[in-house]
Amino acid sequence: MAMAGSAVGLGNIWRFPYMVGEHGGAAFIIVYVICCLLVSLPIFFAEATIGKSTRRDTFGALESISPKSKWAGYTAILASFIILSFYSVVGGWSIDYLIRSFGGGFSGRSMAEAREVFAAMGASPVESVSCMLVFLGLTAMIVGAGVDKGIGRFSKISIPVLFVMVVVIAVVSLSLPGAGKGVEYLIRPDFSKLDAPAIAAALGQSFFSLSLGVGTILTYSSYMKEDENLISAGGWTAFFDTVFALIAGFAIMPAVFAAGIEPAAGPSLVFETLPVIFSRMGVVLPVVFFMAILIAALSSSISMLEVVVAWLVDQGGMRRSHAVLAVFGAAAVLGSACAVAPRVFGACDFVSSNVLMMFGALAFALLVGWKMPREEALRHVRYRFVYWLIRYAAPVMIVAIAVTNLL
Ligand code: PHE
Repeated sequence: MAMAGSAVGLGNIWRFPYMVGEHGGAAFIIVYVICCLLVSLPIFFAEATIGKSTRRDTFGALESISPKSKWAGYTAILASFIILSFYSVVGGWSIDYLIRSFGGGFSGRSMAEAREVFAAMGASPVESVSCMLVFLGLTAMIVGAGVDKGIGRFSKISIPVLFVMVVVIAVVSLSLPGAGKGVEYLIRPDFSKLDAPAIAAALGQSFFSLSLGVGTILTYSSYMKEDENLISAGGWTAFFDTVFALIAGFAIMPAVFAAGIEPAAGPSLVFETLPVIFSRMGVVLPVVFFMAILIAALSSSISMLEVVVAWLVDQGGMRRSHAVLAVFGAAAVLGSACAVAPRVFGACDFVSSNVLMMFGALAFALLVGWKMPREEALRHVRYRFVYWLIRYAAPVMIVAIAVTNLL
């Protein structure tokens, strides 16, 4: 459940639906699923194998397989920290909007007014920084409560609730007059749009969506019981993540089209278009929507914080509570910079998802495929075919996407 929580996040809600529509509907979904099966899942298995086999934090795990690969431990932990910082800004916005929705803050507003509200929030450092700190504080409280009592318990309750919320929004959205166009936007297959950038986008999205390459899956796997099967954990996580992304698409796009608005992605979709559309249907729907965004963001942010905390506890010998406080403090500084300076936010997003994440994923695949004793790797990945994908296919594809994305 915790792995599914890490995977399901803002990536599913604000990027996936738009990407599908832009890149050819059902044709893109097919490519996305193939990318997941042939590249992302093998990397998931590689990362989980490292965690489960070494039972250490990200740094210690890589170091114990090959001392030379220590640097990859640092880049993964750094990536988790950077993602935590800018993700907390968006988490903060969702808290801000949740509070506004309780007061019916968007009812009767026009799209232009919603745009002004969003811009004013971004322009007010006090508002955006304090909401970011509340979000980071909630993340720290959950992680501080421990792996079982904090992360485990939160995930077991919140993920099913989140699922129900998104299904409810999808049912409402699909029942609106004119919703059919949104469905068509999402699923009508257009194979002519499947060019190299679309395929690279599918792969990049599936990496981010499955939380790969930054040590979250590694760290969570290090807490798995010996008899737990990581192939089924990975399979379920990827299945749930994809199904959730599709349902989020059906919750969002039909409503956007029913309102006669051009679809978009990112902040403008979630914080400008949707609050106005959902407010037309009463006070409850926007509250449910922002609550869902908040839960999705929290269940991901706790996994990023856990990576850094596990490292400080295992390598630095710190107490868990002290480690949580230290990372909270550091992320508060970088998060504040992200909250007030859109350029810093953009740079953090770019460096972590296009550079560090790719490095990490490549390192995990190469370590399991080429450094770890073959029998040990096979004991965890079980199938020769999966081992082969980790050894050859995944590294080649990662280099290919990294080059395509950076060009
Ligand atoms: N998978 C999360 C999402 O889709 C993001 C994430 C990335 C979480 C890396 C943890 C680590 O939003």
